[in-house]
Amino acid sequence: MSDRPLLIVILAAGKGTRMKSALPKVLHKVAGRSMLAHVMALSADLGAARIAVVVGPEMANVRAEVHALAPDAAIYEQTEQRGTGDAVLAAREAIAGHSGDVLVLYADTPLTRAASLIAMRRSLDVAEGVCVLGFDAADPTGYGRLLTSADGSLLAIREHKDASPDELDVTLCNSGVMGFRVADLAGLLDRIGNDNAKGEYYLTDAVEIARGAGLRASVVTCGEDEVLGVNSRDQLAVAEAIWQRRARARAMAEGVTMVAPETVFLSYDTTFGRDVVLEPNVFFGPGVAIADDVLIRANCYLEGHDQKSRAGLTIGKGTSIGPFARLRPGTTLGEDVHVGNFVEVKNASLEDGAKANHLTYVGDARVGAGANIGAGTIFCNYDGYNKNRCDVGAGVFIGSNSALVAPVSIGDGAYVAAGSTITRDVAAGALGIERAEQTEKPEWAANYRFRMEKPKGG
Ligand code: UD1
Ligand code: CA
Repeated sequence: MSDRPLLIVILAAGKGTRMKSALPKVLHKVAGRSMLAHVMALSADLGAARIAVVVGPEMANVRAEVHALAPDAAIYEQTEQRGTGDAVLAAREAIAGHSGDVLVLYADTPLTRAASLIAMRRSLDVAEGVCVLGFDAADPTGYGRLLTSADGSLLAIREHKDASPDELDVTLCNSGVMGFRVADLAGLLDRIGNDNAKGEYYLTDAVEIARGAGLRASVVTCGEDEVLGVNSRDQLAVAEAIWQRRARARAMAEGVTMVAPETVFLSYDTTFGRDVVLEPNVFFGPGVAIADDVLIRANCYLEGHDQKSRAGLTIGKGTSIGPFARLRPGTTLGEDVHVGNFVEVKNASLEDGAKANHLTYVGDARVGAGANIGAGTIFCNYDGYNKNRCDVGAGVFIGSNSALVAPVSIGDGAYVAAGSTITRDVAAGALGIERAEQTEKPEWAANYRFRMEKPKGG
């Protein structure tokens, strides 16, 4: 394909009033990352030499997101929303300083596939001009219509509000994605006026202007699911659903069994080995990597990154999780580990063959290979101020209902007696026991029942 350098201009200036949110629209998430992040990742996948993002006023958090994702991206502010043509020109400096192709994407349209944009660039290979990503709309209301000639070439884009009755019958619509291979693009965009129904500078007018200058205008089409623009929470949920459907299909194609795929939720970066089996109702937050032959039983919640930590979560070959387990950031499970029902693990590693099968909290710890953590064991990692660590050696056996008060370490092969509150280190091979001596009162039960059941006032 073309070796013309690519500049991608991402429009993110919209406030997104219909989201009814304190957060700018493009920061709302699909599959665990912002819509803006999806579009920026797509831009990187396309090999963009430069990315320019156009933001609105008072969008410090959008700027911060751009900066975090791509420190080299340039940020421009569109002070007043005067239309898509004006928005692109907010990045005038980037456009004027660039020789090569320019692609305009919307940050509220997170589902576009790289293949469609590559097809647009191929179309620009033919000659200088404009290429528009179009789609056949089930309901074209509100979209710009693509007016084509008999030979399929693009004549103009007519916005809904400006269209004649005949033009409104056209179902081939503008997705908003436009590609340009124009020597002086800024000069061309400067010729866009605002004499139209909305009084806005329409980027779409660039098609007729380019044709008037003898340049080529073409259409590349894609599925409607690729160009869903999100304006409301309802559409955000639709975008999420489409994204999830695609991701599940991809995972299954690569060797993951899902008993009920529609109940499994993935993040943008979830990775699986082969022969992973997922039972119903499993949620993957960001930052989770699963190796081969892992079994995740029903109703588990896994996340490698959250608000506080981006430490990741990895699960080794042959390990089984759940049902009803919660795995949090910083967790590493080795091979053939068992994490059973109602177990929570955070910032801890369970080495090969370790088991925590029932009702346990493991936080800020290492659990050595083959260790067995009994039912109801709590790693007391937090003292109200600091997080402290526990170290449990290989082959250790922790009896049920024990509390390990961090910092503490249990040596290889040691035992901890059930019900113990362990506050001091236990040496390798020893038994740590912390319990009151058991006493016994013979016949106590019978006497008690006699007292309680004696008729009153008799
Ligand atoms: C636009 C297209 C239309 C297309 C539709 C696809 C134009 C004139 N029309 O219409 O042909 O079918 O998208 O969804 O381009 N934006 C800014 N600054 C502005 C105006 C818009 O950043 O001044 C951003 C918006 O935040 C949004 C995107 O550009 O992300 C599109 O703007 P919007 O006003 O929604 O355009 P539409 O009328 O939907
Ligand atoms: Ca729109």
